[in-house]
Amino acid sequence: MTEQQPKFITVEGGEGAGKSTNVGIIKACLDDAGIAYLHTREPGGTPLAEEIRALLLTKREEPVAADTELLMAFAARAQHIAQVIRPALARGQWVLCDRFTDATFAYQGSGRGIPNDKIAQLETMVQQGLQPDLTLLFDLPVEIGMERARQRGALDRFESEQIAFFERVRRGYLERARQHPQRFHILDASQGLESVAQQVRQLMTQLLGC
Ligand SMILES: Nc1ncnc2c1ncn2[C@@H]1O[C@H](COP(=O)(O)OP(=O)(O)OP(=O)(O)O)[C@@H](O)[C@H]1O
Ligand SMILES: [Mg+2]
Repeated sequence: MTEQQPKFITVEGGEGAGKSTNVGIIKACLDDAGIAYLHTREPGGTPLAEEIRALLLTKREEPVAADTELLMAFAARAQHIAQVIRPALARGQWVLCDRFTDATFAYQGSGRGIPNDKIAQLETMVQQGLQPDLTLLFDLPVEIGMERARQRGALDRFESEQIAFFERVRRGYLERARQHPQRFHILDASQGLESVAQQVRQLMTQLLGC
């Protein structure tokens, strides 16, 4: 297992889908397999990128233009890739990332209405061919995810959006999964915690033998 080329794994899905919760399951699986990995998240993952994350998520009176959001997401990503993701992969570590560019296509693309080709241009510029090897998409009806996020505490700028926005985000993710079927795996995140965790374990066993 450890001699394999390091893999770049991302977890995606809407608010309260259980991404962060199930990262723990993926980590346990990698630990069991003796795989060295780095766990990180987007937006963020470096001190500067975390500052950009705070700018992105803070509720403010000034309307935030969709392109501003898009460029901040990719500014944070450029820093994250240069400082964290590429160096880790080069050292032979696997990278497990909570959200990546599929989230930009879902939120700023489908959610805000930015055309896909505009996002794809930045993707090419910033990523230079870097793509996840495996993406777990936690899919669930928007209302269930919102309820989970609400119970967790105060809502950020994105979490405060209307249901219609999250419906577009959900559709955007599913569309991305259809376009990249070889790396995407869709999980039914509407089920209870243990049932979703079981789906994640099964998938990891199937894919990685752990
Ligand atoms: N399958 C589940 N059933 C019930 N509750 C769940 C389930 N998965 C996660 N939760 C709970 O829902 C809340 C949101 O989960 P989590 O933080 O993992 O979601 P997330 O996808 O990371 O959300 P965000 O996009 O906001 O980061 C947490 O309180 C978590 O305990
Ligand atoms: Mg999370």
